[in-house]
Amino acid sequence: MDHFEYRDGELWAEGVRLADVAQSVGTPLYVYASATLALHLARLTDAFAPLRARVHFAVKSLPNTEVLRLLGSLGSGMDVVSGGELERVRRAGVPMDRVSFAGVGKSEAEIARAIALGVGWINAESEHEVRMIAQLAESAGRRPSVCLRVNPGIDARTHAYITTGTRANKFGVGFDAARAVFDRFARDPRLRLRGLHVHVGSLVGDPSVHTEAVAKILSLADDLDAAGHPIDTLNLGGGFGADYRTGQTPSAAAYAAAVVPLLKDRAARGTTIIIEPGRFIAANAGVLLTRVRDLKPGDAGRTFAVCDAGMITLLRPALYGAFHFVWPVSPAGGLVPKRREPEPPLEGLSLYDVVGPVCESGDFLAQGRPLPTLERGDLLAVFASGAYGMSMASTYNDQPRPAEVLVDGDARRVVRRRETTDDLFRFDTGLGDPA
Ligand code: LLP
Repeated sequence: MDHFEYRDGELWAEGVRLADVAQSVGTPLYVYASATLALHLARLTDAFAPLRARVHFAVKSLPNTEVLRLLGSLGSGMDVVSGGELERVRRAGVPMDRVSFAGVGKSEAEIARAIALGVGWINAESEHEVRMIAQLAESAGRRPSVCLRVNPGIDARTHAYITTGTRANKFGVGFDAARAVFDRFARDPRLRLRGLHVHVGSLVGDPSVHTEAVAKILSLADDLDAAGHPIDTLNLGGGFGADYRTGQTPSAAAYAAAVVPLLKDRAARGTTIIIEPGRFIAANAGVLLTRVRDLKPGDAGRTFAVCDAGMITLLRPALYGAFHFVWPVSPAGGLVPKRREPEPPLEGLSLYDVVGPVCESGDFLAQGRPLPTLERGDLLAVFASGAYGMSMASTYNDQPRPAEVLVDGDARRVVRRRETTDDLFRFDTGLGDPA
């Protein structure tokens, strides 16, 4: 579900005509709909209400300060994975007691900062990190709450690069190691080690994967309770899907149904439950707008539509082979898509490879896609680009990164300006200092 829809043959975001925004702000451009962000946050919050779960938005999916300010104002907490993200949520005015600080390989400086700011939870990835947190907490005279990330050995059956819960993945510690860490640190006065964290992967299409993961950490939590190390926080991670193809993804209710029955008793006894959704909230809340710069014949009757956006703007198709629905903002002949996944052969459509300006053949947004006839200068919308779009954009080939616009009703604001060519040289030092 989102708030991008065709009216009279033109794509709108809430009360804003997207062709107008592209005209005034230029392309490539990310546009986010506040209403969709709010709706998806509310859906998850409502679905997990029986657990009174705290929703910590995964900042890595859409780290725009104004988007974070909006979600924060709607009650969301934040999951951050670096000192940079921590600083961003601070600037967005999100209260620190609603923030969890996670991430593999945290630096000492990042942990010290998280402790000094008083984040709600630090998610530790190893015994070494727990020890470092204890030492830094002692010097700071603080007593942070810590969750230990455990690796449950579960295959989330998603893309290999975003599978995180198997033994082959670098994340967390195994269950036996977890017990040993609690034996060593659960009574340590320098910190409060009372929580477990698990995240088995992203874009998890089968809710029963979450059932399996929760069942496993619940049994570990029970063991730890019994061993005299009471667990008061369970962070279940994120991984809920988004509609890259219409109706493809389980609903918030379906994800909740997979875990709520298992956790209800514990939640009723006072255990804090946290979820960390990124994609579910942000993906369908954004589109990428790009202009067709050139058209030329390709192989097997296809045409290359060379655009001003590509792998530098939206990396997901090139990196994961991900599908993003693409359609013109003002389609020729008023050919408005009924559903967002037309299958060829469709009347009046031709096959296009939608590609970018970068010097690599992997630089594509869509391949062999049936689209209405395109002209140079046409504006295309790449749907479901709100999550892991701008956050993974790069300046490869010395291309400045795009602008971001946040729509709210019929208001639209630039929430990150387009980078300029001058920005590309901000860090050059000439011959600089001796290294
Ligand atoms: N919690 C942890 C510990 C995570 O590692 C992640 C994502 C999340 C929560 C949020 O996951 P989500 O709800 O968004 O699935 N770049 C990839 C996705 C990488 C996800 C990394 N970790 C993509 O574009 O598909």
